[in-house]
Amino acid sequence: MLDRILAKRIIPVVVLDQASDAEPLAEALLDAGLDIMEVTFRTAAAAESITRIAKAFPEILLGAGTLLEPDQVARARDAGAIFGLAPGLNPEILAKAKQVGLQFSPGVMTPSDIEQALSLGCDLLKFFPAGAAGGPNMLKALAGPYAHTGVKFVPTGGISAKNLGDYLALPVVAAIGGSWMVDKKLVADANWTEITRLTKEALAAAAAV
Ligand code: 3PG
Repeated sequence: MLDRILAKRIIPVVVLDQASDAEPLAEALLDAGLDIMEVTFRTAAAAESITRIAKAFPEILLGAGTLLEPDQVARARDAGAIFGLAPGLNPEILAKAKQVGLQFSPGVMTPSDIEQALSLGCDLLKFFPAGAAGGPNMLKALAGPYAHTGVKFVPTGGISAKNLGDYLALPVVAAIGGSWMVDKKLVADANWTEITRLTKEALAAAAAV
């Protein structure tokens, strides 16, 4: 999974209000050359959206995000998610992910969070909220005591095409996540061509690092 994430280095963070938008959105990302996405459990449409994408586009490395309840972890797995994420680190969620066989990246923001994640066996960690938590400078500082452990981060929160290079230039950053290329308004307007354009732009910016 890490190899596939490292190949593209971008994870679009998707919020879907209507499951019927799932396939066209996935297609818009694939048209741009991106075969990774995270569908967040922030809406009632999340599980069905994951089911639809997993069925129509099995080539997508499909993640479920914002998993805050153990029950959501099981539903994400049943729906066909390959990996899971959360904004924070909750041992109950990690235990459930292990039980159902879902690869999981908890969210961290502090040295203590990182140490707890490592001791629970996680080494690909979401770093959230990246911008508000100090951005690339914070990650550079955290790399000091932790890079040698092999830990890698996926920063999200406040990242766009303008600043993704600052994050991806850091060896401790595996990939970045963000919602800007799959903005809710673009989805509501069914503006798939703009989603494809923004995704291509993001991939080009990442490839240039
Ligand atoms: C996330 O959960 O990763 C964030 O909501 C994404 O942050 P962004 O909307 O600032 O990209």
